[in-house]
Amino acid sequence: MKLLAKFNLVLFILFALGTAATALVSRDLLQRNAREEIRENAKLLIESALAVRTYTSRNIAPLLETQIKYEFRPEMVSAYSAIEMLKHLREANPDYKNFQYREATLNPTNPVNRAVDWESDIVNAFRNGVAEAPLFGERDTPNGRMLYVAKPLRAGGACLRCHDTAEVAPATMIAKYGSANGFGWKVNEIIGAQIVQIPETFVLQRAETTFRVFMGSLLAVLVAIALTMNGVLWWMFIRPITRISALADRISLGEVDAPDFAARGRDEIGMLASALSRMRRSLVQAMHMLES
Ligand code: HEC
Repeated sequence: MKLLAKFNLVLFILFALGTAATALVSRDLLQRNAREEIRENAKLLIESALAVRTYTSRNIAPLLETQIKYEFRPEMVSAYSAIEMLKHLREANPDYKNFQYREATLNPTNPVNRAVDWESDIVNAFRNGVAEAPLFGERDTPNGRMLYVAKPLRAGGACLRCHDTAEVAPATMIAKYGSANGFGWKVNEIIGAQIVQIPETFVLQRAETTFRVFMGSLLAVLVAIALTMNGVLWWMFIRPITRISALADRISLGEVDAPDFAARGRDEIGMLASALSRMRRSLVQAMHMLES
């Protein structure tokens, strides 16, 4: 095998191993970062919903105290505000249209908030103390794979004004929601869970694009390095050595007056060339001595 072919084989194996290792590590890192980013977004969203809840019960509900005697306005309910806030967020930006926020409750006032099977599992896991908040998970949905984060919702003393029994709840609220559901909650009982769901597809696709661009530029750099090294190898070693060996060939066949190889520089190749011309001179002298 020629020197250049051997060199390129070694270079190829090295580059292939290096590229594979880099691909493996960088892809894993990018995907992990993407998941971390989704988690952070989900956490921020759930905390914002909690903040809206607090704002509603502290700032808005007192303003509607008189109103409650005549008509019950859901705007004073913190659960309602938090769910509405996320609804507006979804509508305002197409990027967020598949974001979901639920206050999944085992015994809800509004039936749309009833926990479905997988949500009930989460609420029950919180109730039984087997899950810790915030609870992260992933699930497949018709809208693609979703990451969810869940936090338990606890009933406080103030909540029992509307969620204890239908008798003590405001009459206007009963008129609106009926007396069948959303009652019998206990103080400190975990009655449901806030659950935020964020689609993974978009962020993971972005990570995949970053990965492709990164690997593409890495390959371009490696190809440029390989081409340069081939050029250098040819120019500095292969070309002079081929010439020197052709000259040595001619001398060995008795062509002692073949033109010298003009070696530039004092490197190893130059030394080889001058050794060869010295050898040729010695050879000529030896032949003269033999002739005389
Ligand atoms: C003024 C009455 C009132 C008070 C006080 C109140 N809620 Fe509610 N709550 C409601 C009503 C009415 C709904 C249904 C709102 C809707 O979706 O239309 C509701 C809904 C909810 C929901 C969503 C599930 C469901 O039942 O539909 C949760 C969770 C909830 N409340 C928790 C609480 C907690 C926790 C507190 C105390 C911090 C509290 N509520 C205080 C009236 C009240």
